[in-house]
Amino acid sequence: MGEYKYIGKSVPRVDAAEKATGHIKYMSDLSFPNMLWGKIVRSKYPHAKILKIDTSKAEALPGVVAVVTWKDVPGLNGFGIVVPDQPVLCEDKVRYIGDAVAAVAAETKEIAEKAANLVEVEYEPLPLVDDPIKAISEDAPKVHEGGNVHLHTKIVRGDVEKAFEEADLIVEHTYYTGRQEHAFLETESGVAKLEEDGTLSVYAGSQYPQRDQMQLSRCLALNPRKIHVVSYPVGGAFGGKDELTIQPILGLLALKTKRPVKIVLSREESIISYWKRHPMIMKYKTGVKKDGTLVANKVEIYADTGAYASLGGPVLNLAVEHACGPYKLDNVYIDGYCVYTNNGVAGAFRGFGVPQVTFAMETQMDIIAEKLGIDPIELRKKNALRRGDVSPIGNKLTTSVGTVAVLEGVKETDLWKNKDKIEKVDKERPWIKRGFGFALTYQGTGLGIGLPDYGGAVLRFREDGGFIVGVGIVDYGQGTGTSYAQIVAEAMKCPVNKVSVILGDTDLTADSGPTSASRGVYTGGRAAIIASKRMMKILKEKAAELLSVSPEDLEAEGGYFYVKNQPDVSISYDKIAMEFLKTSGHLPQTEGYFLMPIADIKIKDAFGLPHHIFAYSGHLALVEVNTLTGQTKVLEGAEVVDGGIVVNRQGFEAQVEGGYVMGMGYGLMEDVKIEKGIFKTVNFSTYIIPTVKDAPKRIQTVPVHDPEETGPYQAKGIAETVMVATAPAITNAIHSATGIRIFKIPATSELIYNLLKE
Ligand code: MOS
Repeated sequence: MGEYKYIGKSVPRVDAAEKATGHIKYMSDLSFPNMLWGKIVRSKYPHAKILKIDTSKAEALPGVVAVVTWKDVPGLNGFGIVVPDQPVLCEDKVRYIGDAVAAVAAETKEIAEKAANLVEVEYEPLPLVDDPIKAISEDAPKVHEGGNVHLHTKIVRGDVEKAFEEADLIVEHTYYTGRQEHAFLETESGVAKLEEDGTLSVYAGSQYPQRDQMQLSRCLALNPRKIHVVSYPVGGAFGGKDELTIQPILGLLALKTKRPVKIVLSREESIISYWKRHPMIMKYKTGVKKDGTLVANKVEIYADTGAYASLGGPVLNLAVEHACGPYKLDNVYIDGYCVYTNNGVAGAFRGFGVPQVTFAMETQMDIIAEKLGIDPIELRKKNALRRGDVSPIGNKLTTSVGTVAVLEGVKETDLWKNKDKIEKVDKERPWIKRGFGFALTYQGTGLGIGLPDYGGAVLRFREDGGFIVGVGIVDYGQGTGTSYAQIVAEAMKCPVNKVSVILGDTDLTADSGPTSASRGVYTGGRAAIIASKRMMKILKEKAAELLSVSPEDLEAEGGYFYVKNQPDVSISYDKIAMEFLKTSGHLPQTEGYFLMPIADIKIKDAFGLPHHIFAYSGHLALVEVNTLTGQTKVLEGAEVVDGGIVVNRQGFEAQVEGGYVMGMGYGLMEDVKIEKGIFKTVNFSTYIIPTVKDAPKRIQTVPVHDPEETGPYQAKGIAETVMVATAPAITNAIHSATGIRIFKIPATSELIYNLLKE
């Protein structure tokens, strides 16, 4: 990578200083003159008919400016990226305990809270359904009139039953995964404000401003051009701000009061109200030959999507697509259900259905390796998908496939090299057992086939010879903005500190699709390169004119154009900027757009499938288990990742380390408990996430890559894959330490203690 000045190097984050010094204004920091506070009235029951809503007492409270109910929604009383089945404000029925029924705007936060308690709602409780398998049966209470199956996706290839007959070993288990909460630092917060020209400005952290604008225009019956969405900066998201949250209610209150209105959710309200990672029940039956060749995989998936669709359908489909892991399998039967219940809502969360099936499949692989006495890396290598192979769901993998590169890379990690030297039982404390575990995974980049999947970037030349790149993608911690600065600096041959980045603003950025599916660097980056090439051509022509040479004679470097073979004849970008201003009064601006490449086939009845580009990763864990208490400590971790060429080396390390610790929380600790539709863990005193003290003392990060020519400087994207296989690496390590198998995550101390007692 010596040819690059910025790509692959460690570049400090463009937003580091303003974040570290506290100068950045997050949405919850915003304040405007004459601003009101909003408060949302939420359901008291997980499932109930609404008989009556009486707002009179709330309206009579001094300091209350407006109270809104479903009657005040001027447009479609529904939102949802795929199916708009979630009411902005419920009219006749509530389907989960966080459902919004009314909202108030008042002079102070305290008055708003008081008024919310004065809104009287009469309910008739309905029987509830809180189990995704029971929800499928005919006699289950119906969450929606159309029935509880939101989506059923089935993919069959080959003949599993025949293949099972020919298998030497069949491994069959049922797996359960928890309901993980995003635990972003900034809760759903923001301000909506009606501007003098009638434009509605909505400031709220989210993952896709242009789609928010579309959904808001639908709910509020406003011309989208009259809605300005600012979705950046975002205090964390991880998928948890992909769908609309408080924005439509903020919009309603601002339109009604004609004053700025602010809402900041408490942690409790945030946890109850918006979506979590889908808990899944997964039945796996895997057939394998004595030599380790996988011959058949039969998978049933039940995903609990809660009360509304949100992104449950695509999450299920991604789980179905990735259910067999990155392995060659010609006989597969994958049957998935995404089911409505009254258990909160589930939706997008880093990994998007893949962490669940990866936990199941990689435990299956570990069991197979153990039973057949095959080295776990060799077993995977034997079955590994390679470029040109057909995936388990039937598409030909013509793009980069990093499975083998990752498996080779694993052997280079310190953890792998030293795994046989582990002191399995602590000499001083013989109740402490240690073990090593491994898991492999992959993750589609982009939205998949059949969905509008494109990138866009706008590039503006600055007066000082620098550039502003505007992309609708947001940076909620991944470091995407810094990658864009590096990509533009590389393409425009200018210092990286001469590139500023604008993200997530419907007025100032190009629509680049959602900040999801590990697609930020690929889409925005590629679009930025296209915009840069156009900009380069314009600048070069101007420089040639000014230097009286032909554009072909010029070479750009470090913010200057040089005449080839005459290094002393040059012109700086800022001089060119001055010339543009002098002659035309304005500076050039270019745009870049492109469509994501797609797979060779479409899977019938499974929208979005298949994906075309994938990132791959191998996760390693060294754990110690206290067999007296069941407590597990991850001593050391490692990841080998093929996300294409790394754009920012320090950003890569941060993503891997963060993903690993998030995956560790998923595997060992995190589960939002819901009993009879009521949340039992509503803040971080009961919903426990790992802290720096729980993190392993070292996480080795190893980038490998299989070239993906279509990516910006051959980058693919790493955001999700880096967390996806950490949980099974850890649970496989727990097995190696103690001999117990974990079929349910989180593998809490209690669960391990009880399994050890058995
Ligand atoms: Mo993400 S879970 O693809 O927002």
